[in-house]
Amino acid sequence: MKNDQYSLLKEKIKSNDFSSVFLLLDENTDKYCLEIFINKSEINNYKKIVIKSGEENKNIDTCINIWKELNSQKADRKSIIINLGGGVLTDIGGFVASTYLRGIEFINVPTTLLGMVDAAHGGKTGIDFLSLKNQIGVFNMPIGVILDTVYLKTLSKEEYLNGYAEIFKHSFLTDSSDLSFNSLIKLDFYNDVDFIINKYSDIKNQIVKVDKYESNSRKVLNLGHTIGHALESYSYLSNSLDKLKHGEAIIIGLITELYISNKLNDFSLDTVDKLKEVSLNYFSKISLTDNDLKSIYDLMIFDKKNDKGSVNFVLLDKAGKPMIDQKVDYDIFIEAFAYYNN
Ligand SMILES: NC(=O)c1ccc[n+]([C@@H]2O[C@H](COP(=O)([O-])OP(=O)(O)OC[C@H]3O[C@@H](n4cnc5c(N)ncnc54)[C@H](O)[C@@H]3O)[C@@H](O)[C@H]2O)c1
Repeated sequence: MKNDQYSLLKEKIKSNDFSSVFLLLDENTDKYCLEIFINKSEINNYKKIVIKSGEENKNIDTCINIWKELNSQKADRKSIIINLGGGVLTDIGGFVASTYLRGIEFINVPTTLLGMVDAAHGGKTGIDFLSLKNQIGVFNMPIGVILDTVYLKTLSKEEYLNGYAEIFKHSFLTDSSDLSFNSLIKLDFYNDVDFIINKYSDIKNQIVKVDKYESNSRKVLNLGHTIGHALESYSYLSNSLDKLKHGEAIIIGLITELYISNKLNDFSLDTVDKLKEVSLNYFSKISLTDNDLKSIYDLMIFDKKNDKGSVNFVLLDKAGKPMIDQKVDYDIFIEAFAYYNN
């Protein structure tokens, strides 16, 4: 990765563009990433705010604590927040920055693979609310995203693989053969990571550029997320299931939604089989009861991606092209999980 990515930030800081610089961290990025960031960015005058890591802290209480801290440290409209962390932290930090004093600037410095390839880009900021994912938030772009794989060195293997769910998703949204799912899985997940981050974050950025506010074509980025988000939320609500990481839930969302694409649109079953096989090498299978599935379906009805009480899916057509706003009956949803469980 290019080191000159820090130059925009260095220039802005040198020319006193900001009245104060706030660094938002969690306990892990404070421990593992802060020093690297300070050395590379050469920032010496900053105020640090540390929050607790984890999806369970992606909520309004965390925001209130950050807003209080900004207020007590006299942040003004010329202050900037630098979000140094994974997708949870950049989602919260972007939202806090976008709402404090009606909006101050922020920069994302993703430190997880998922953040580098997806969450730090595209301007979706927000928090979870009433057990539902990302229910409160705004669209607002960071003024910059610094992509530096040096931060991945301390990321656990589990968290690293977690990022692959969104990379797989992006590989189904391109018709460029060198980026498709079948070519992606031939790459080395570790040695080719720079190439993978550049290419697959670019796929997202190109989609976002055309439809910043998700009124239409950007919805394709929700592939795997209709089921995935409901499953992730459910894992936090249910006592019978371990809490799922975002990537773990999305991979199941992808497998089941691509299976539905096969049933309804004749999308290649071989490819779905391949996705399932590759994914199960990295992610453990979870088992869900009939009651679990009923609750997950009910959660999907409340998700913000739906309208007028019906559940909207992104499916792939026979040629592998995404189709938005597709309706799926409960029976097919159940059948997709039977396929996943098989
Ligand atoms: N805004 C978007 O467009 C978008 C897109 C996809 C996902 N998301 C959101 O992203 C979140 C998931 O993000 P995530 O997978 O990055 O998880 P995460 O932010 O929870 O980070 C995972 C864990 O890794 C730790 N960590 C981060 N960087 C580290 C490093 N370099 N070394 C060691 N530990 C480190 C964190 O402290 C945390 O414990 C979800 O809330 C999801 O909704 C947002």
